[in-house]
Amino acid sequence: MPRRAAPVNPPARLSLISRHLAPDYPINTPYTVERLPDTIDTSLLPKTQTRKLSNSANMSSQPEHPTLLIPGPIEFDDAVLNSMSHYSESHVGPAFVATFGETLSMLRTLFQTSDPAAQPFVLSGSGTLGWDLVAANLVEPGEKVLVLGTGYFSDNFAECLRVYGADVTELRAPVGSRPQLPEIEQALSANKYKMITVTHVDTSTGVLSELEKLSALVHKVSPETLIIVDGVCSVACEEIAFDAWKLDGVVTASQKAIGCPAGLSISMFSGRAIKALQSRKVPPTSYFASMNNWLPIMKNYENKKPSYFATPSPQLVHALHTALTQITSQPLAVRFAKHREASDRIKQAVADLGLKQVAANPDDQAHGMTAIYLPETVKQADILPNLAKKGVVFAGGIHKEIATKYIRFGHMGVSVLDPKRGDVDRAVKALQDGLTECGYQKV
Ligand SMILES: Cc1ncc(COP(=O)(O)O)c(C=O)c1O
Repeated sequence: MPRRAAPVNPPARLSLISRHLAPDYPINTPYTVERLPDTIDTSLLPKTQTRKLSNSANMSSQPEHPTLLIPGPIEFDDAVLNSMSHYSESHVGPAFVATFGETLSMLRTLFQTSDPAAQPFVLSGSGTLGWDLVAANLVEPGEKVLVLGTGYFSDNFAECLRVYGADVTELRAPVGSRPQLPEIEQALSANKYKMITVTHVDTSTGVLSELEKLSALVHKVSPETLIIVDGVCSVACEEIAFDAWKLDGVVTASQKAIGCPAGLSISMFSGRAIKALQSRKVPPTSYFASMNNWLPIMKNYENKKPSYFATPSPQLVHALHTALTQITSQPLAVRFAKHREASDRIKQAVADLGLKQVAANPDDQAHGMTAIYLPETVKQADILPNLAKKGVVFAGGIHKEIATKYIRFGHMGVSVLDPKRGDVDRAVKALQDGLTECGYQKV
């Protein structure tokens, strides 16, 4: 007869697990968040593995490889990549907890928030998990959400919201553009929405949405509506002033302008968003993506207290810690200006080639990527392999209405911040030569 385990209630079971995981250190869980003292003596903590932070990204420790200039994942800085080879350590050990805590604090700097009610989250998963977080926690089944439609990624965010039962209205713009403020005002006046979502940069089109004016409009017309931003292709290359612009949520991922390997869902939620979570009539409609499960864990990590709900990825968190240390070591304005300069240069080269961008209006053009319409005579299937042979990897199109007609050039992170690499100039030259070899001549 198989033996049956004696039933154990969850807190008792977690306490047993905690003793197994960290014998000398009491563990916090969602059930025990209140129990531990607020401060611990960090001088007693073992030191974490030291890493050299380099400002150079000469790929000296990376095998030679084609330069990845797609709109994410992007090229890695050596120091970020090397952080991944950290020895294995306990995810509830004091050294890792300190690293995780610092990582969360640095995210506050990156998102430009000093509001203690705002809460950063770092979870194992890709950018898509940010959509699940929003959909499972901040809207309840049947509640109305207005999705600003800019392309493939806003469509999929809408789909995710529907999966969790939201009543979604999509305000769609023509390909290569974004919904305009007057029509958004009209939509907000016609219906009461729990939330509005905007894709800051829609990676399928390179269209940049304007957040500051949008937020001011929402606060004027429908002040209770939560403003949620998909910042997967914008955080760390486009300005986002979380507090000043009164945003309620920005979700992003590790692999784009932050410059870290893929695998982390990174987000910031306002006190208002957390209140919406806490005043739900029904519990969050996900288990792993329940912010109720993660909120105490994130708070504990930031307070350098060990905590467990589900195992994080220590190596990825180390890489993120290094990336954020680099990002926050200089004023954010400098970083954004460098992305803007590189973007201007690339967009000028595209115009000089006689080519058009998918994002037609210069005010709507992203600064971390460029979506370029191909000449009618040049096929994606010819130009992309041609570029790859020249050591430059661009991406094809993904907007379903124009997918085969354009290519995408990502210019984020080290490829634009470290001029020694020469990535941008090499890519522009490859594009010029490649198009000529594919038979294109500017008329
Ligand atoms: C704007 C935007 N949102 C969401 C996602 C989804 O992120 P992930 O592929 O990391 O799940 C992406 C991916 O490229 C994106 O560009």
